[in-house]
Amino acid sequence: MTITAPQQKLNTFLDESKASGFLDAEFAAFMDDRDPLKALRNEFVIPKKGEIAPGSDNPEDTCIYFCGNSLGLLPKAVARYVKEELEVWGEGAVNSHFNHRFGRPWVRIEETVQEQSARVVGAKKDEVAIMNTLTSNLHTLFAAFYTPTQDRHKVLIESKAFPSDHYAVESQIRWHGLDPRESLICQEPRAGEVLLRTEDILETIEKHGHEIAVVCFSGIQFYTGQYFEMEKITKAAQAKGCIVGWDLAHAAGNVPVQLHDWNVDFACWCSYKYLNSGPGGIAGIFVHERHAKDLGRNRLAGWWGHDKVTRFDMVNVFKPMEGAAGFQHSNPSVLTTSALLGSLSVFEQTTMAEMRQKSYLLTGYLYHLLTTEFSKDVLEIITPAEPEHRGAQLSLVFKRGKMMEVFEGLAKRGIIGDERKPDVIRIAPTPLYTRFEDVRQFVVELKKLVAELY
Ligand SMILES: Cc1ncc(COP(=O)(O)O)c(C=O)c1O
Repeated sequence: MTITAPQQKLNTFLDESKASGFLDAEFAAFMDDRDPLKALRNEFVIPKKGEIAPGSDNPEDTCIYFCGNSLGLLPKAVARYVKEELEVWGEGAVNSHFNHRFGRPWVRIEETVQEQSARVVGAKKDEVAIMNTLTSNLHTLFAAFYTPTQDRHKVLIESKAFPSDHYAVESQIRWHGLDPRESLICQEPRAGEVLLRTEDILETIEKHGHEIAVVCFSGIQFYTGQYFEMEKITKAAQAKGCIVGWDLAHAAGNVPVQLHDWNVDFACWCSYKYLNSGPGGIAGIFVHERHAKDLGRNRLAGWWGHDKVTRFDMVNVFKPMEGAAGFQHSNPSVLTTSALLGSLSVFEQTTMAEMRQKSYLLTGYLYHLLTTEFSKDVLEIITPAEPEHRGAQLSLVFKRGKMMEVFEGLAKRGIIGDERKPDVIRIAPTPLYTRFEDVRQFVVELKKLVAELY
């Protein structure tokens, strides 16, 4: 087995820490102590075990939260920003659209989160608009960028795309009077495999690219945690004349994507997972600046996409703004936008590159412990072993039909992951608020549980 770079680092740290092994509390304490992001944990409200798992031992201890891939924890700043908006609403009512005590007039509220969101996804400010929710945005972008012709009408997606994406794409195909049986290509893994091989995706693009209008994958696969080779796939598909879009639900705020430099055509993401903006939070879109001035591109129009200067003149001649802003529909939800502003204020205290460094080590640590402490007839990790092909999340398959029992046993101990039937538990140690000690305790508790159940 080749030793990965994070593993090499962990080995060096083990020597330095003088701990007797990776499962020693001393080792985790050593890692947490030298973690450059350790102060950011204090920016979050971390539920207590007693709150999230009533009846658990040590109810006053913080729970072990590995579910940032589903819903990120509450950043303390969110409460402050939302409270301010409620105050301003109470004091100024409609006037707060233009006069705002905190300098965030609602008429331009989306601009308060544009630049910071752009930084998170490696985009220029005008390539990003914060609007709607994820599936709606996927529809919005398909409406503009999926323009099938007789010769080029297909869409290429992953066979196990998140159901909402699959439904959205199928419905877009039907919307054009086409039949998904002819116009949808689902990239399947090889027989007996769960991950998609880049070479196979590239082969499909090579073979069918001339008839594919849009290639749309997730940046990180929700089930397996596989981080697709976005730049390579984008380049290959564009060389064949396809438009390339990405769903970054599990990638935004998790891995440092470079949407602009990778020349991606469009992308969309939600903000309630790794971006921690709260349930149903406002989402984002990216449209590459190459398309910024393409104002003739047909789109689903709304007044918020209309030229800002004349928006309130109420003339019924739609003049889209340049860039991603021209794809907006409605005036945005101020409360969810200010929640996002609060959560992004934590990201402003670090960089995606710095987070990735910690994430490599933290998830590498989890990977190492799981593969050394458990046999393959108890659990197997389906997420790629190579750190560059995964983000924070590891997907664990529990054998012999015991996944639900393991899941419930962990939950009772205040350890929160999430389950995907039939047999997977997803564990995502997100670097902003997870400690090495959390990973260690998880493995210690899992060992006890496995001893009981297997
Ligand atoms: C990859 C992916 N796509 C789409 C969605 C649906 O998101 P929404 O309900 O915000 O539209 C999710 C939700 O978890 C997701 O993980």
